[in-house]
Amino acid sequence: MPLVTTTEMFKKAYDGGYAIGAFNVNNMEIVQAITEACREEKAPVILQVSKGARAYANHTYLVKLVEAAVIECPEIPVALHLDHGDSFETCKSCIDGGFTSVMIDASSKPFAENIEITRKVVEYAHDHGVVVEAELGALAGVEDEVNVSAEDSHYTRPEEVEEFVAKTGCDSLAIAIGTSHGAYKFKPGTNPQLRFDILEEVSKKLPNFPIVLHGSSSVPQEYVKMVNENGGKMPGAIGVPEEQLRHAAELSVCKINIDSDLRLAMTGTIRKFFNEHPDKFDPREYLKPARANIKELVRHKLVDVLGCAGKA
Ligand code: G3H
Ligand code: 13P
Ligand code: ZN
Repeated sequence: MPLVTTTEMFKKAYDGGYAIGAFNVNNMEIVQAITEACREEKAPVILQVSKGARAYANHTYLVKLVEAAVIECPEIPVALHLDHGDSFETCKSCIDGGFTSVMIDASSKPFAENIEITRKVVEYAHDHGVVVEAELGALAGVEDEVNVSAEDSHYTRPEEVEEFVAKTGCDSLAIAIGTSHGAYKFKPGTNPQLRFDILEEVSKKLPNFPIVLHGSSSVPQEYVKMVNENGGKMPGAIGVPEEQLRHAAELSVCKINIDSDLRLAMTGTIRKFFNEHPDKFDPREYLKPARANIKELVRHKLVDVLGCAGKA
């Protein structure tokens, strides 16, 4: 099956009480690990590419890697999505360059400006058969050059969502309910708790409308330990409890973004490999176990967290 948009995926996910995993891809091993797990678990998937990924790996390489995965996994629906598009130009370049979905993230701009930029992207995208994710509210954490401090972050205001969606025509909406980007989401010793009251208010105002959660890594302590025991230093790395993500997926959340967990699995595995084999220097030898561990982590997300296994 060729690359698809997220329209059908989200409709089924909304009605079925599960979410689609949106995993960030930066190289061949990560694309392979994600799509092999999805193929084996018969799960639809969103492969997403950030501005940083395009700068690192090059747009064409990433598109061709994803196209290769589509050929290798013909049974599962795959969408190719731009993560955190920062301007109309970046979105246009991805729409023209083979993506089936783009995010315009103008959430740091004033409300009216966010509407104006998002509407412009939606008009161009829809004319080209591409769907658009927009964002209201500001998540804390680091994404590319944008570093939103905890003080500058704010929850989505439910009273704004109807007007925003009506005026922009966006196809899905990312909201801020307490998740954040990166590996340090909550202070050690505190009780991580997403604001389900905000999610429910938003869903009441936007019935049948797909909601997106960014910053949804759970920061598996097994991999934090592996990093720390093998020369790394990541004290106090804490993520979103998986039961809360599962609950969000049962509600109106149709897309859950996971990147940091895959990075941790890769880094922990490679650090451990080098610690145990200081004489080895063939990249295939350390990338192979890293890829295998990412695959198993993705499988766990599909089956136990997102609930999308068997839904392809
Ligand atoms: O939200 C951001 C994603 O984790 C991508 O991160 O901008 O470092 O590629 P990146
Ligand atoms: P994490 O940093 O929690 O993996 O979030 C990823 C994300 O939101 C990508 O847009
Ligand atoms: Zn994000």
